Amino acid sequence: DRPLNLGLAGIGTVGASVARILTEKQEHFSKMTGRPIEIKAVSARDRNRDRGVDLSGVDWFDDPVRLAQEADIDLFVELIGGADGPALESVKAALGRGIPVVTANKALLAHHGVSLARLAQRKNVTILFEAAVAGGIPIIKTMREALRGNTVSRVYGILNGTCNYMLTRMEREGVAFEDVLREAQALGYAEADPTFDIGGFDAAHKLAILTSLAFGTEIDLASIFIEGISEISLDDIKAAAELGYRIKLLAVAQRTDSGIEQRVHPTMIPAGSALAQVDGVTNAVAVDTDLLGSILIAGPGAGGNATASAVLSDIIDAANGVYVSTFTVVPQSLTAYKRARMRAH
Ligand code: HSE
Repeated sequence: DRPLNLGLAGIGTVGASVARILTEKQEHFSKMTGRPIEIKAVSARDRNRDRGVDLSGVDWFDDPVRLAQEADIDLFVELIGGADGPALESVKAALGRGIPVVTANKALLAHHGVSLARLAQRKNVTILFEAAVAGGIPIIKTMREALRGNTVSRVYGILNGTCNYMLTRMEREGVAFEDVLREAQALGYAEADPTFDIGGFDAAHKLAILTSLAFGTEIDLASIFIEGISEISLDDIKAAAELGYRIKLLAVAQRTDSGIEQRVHPTMIPAGSALAQVDGVTNAVAVDTDLLGSILIAGPGAGGNATASAVLSDIIDAANGVYVSTFTVVPQSLTAYKRARMRAH
């Protein structure tokens, strides 16, 4: 059988895991898709770094945009990151050629999801992005497939593994903010620029995507109220604990009388509640719906293999010709949210 030729742009923590697993579990993937999946072309800044995977027979491109424009590929996997620049240009180039795209890039989708969805629709190809929200947790497929018959009233949860890891270590071990941030970076959880994590922007990117899927509205990052965890001190955490609360960075989107409200901020959560038990790099997403009541899905929200798990599921879908229309593209009424910090949940 002709293999599925894959172009892999970006070989950082997640990209290296994807490449490794595709190599190690080759037979498994062939079984899933009925043909071998081959990494045909890759692009990364540093050719010589040891990534624990043999990429010697693969076409190297220094520029991911050229890879997307020229490589002999059936599927483009974008794991570069960043809302603009090479990530955006290479995804546009691949879609422009009618090549389907798998991406883990929440920033890209939060900023350009609507225009990319339109381009994909025109070219009759799909963009799959299970890994863009909550790492390994299958929340995109859950929203898109399993909950389709429901009307969602609220979707909320812990969407940034770095912040949750930091808050957990601060609370449990009394480790200072700066030290625990360095730990999260060393473990490969943090964004290239960790301001995106601690400033709440990464959670906001993910929330923007979830909101669109939950409510069928156009992605609207600009109307999200965003406050990160950089002002949270060990004393805040201690004071909350004395009152029976734990502090979590929550992302919330809910239907209100005046529209869909979207917000990201540190929140005091009753220590006994399910969300309060979510520790470390784990993410958790709760969805409230008319038919189902409430569900809560939790699992690893960052890291190489966990995120690769979601990317690989999309690669299998794309290999099998699964087509989904990316986002609903309709006008919306999203409300701006302004509230004092540290409200209880
Ligand atoms: N920096 C992100 C996090 C990676 O910590 O959740 C996963 O998107």
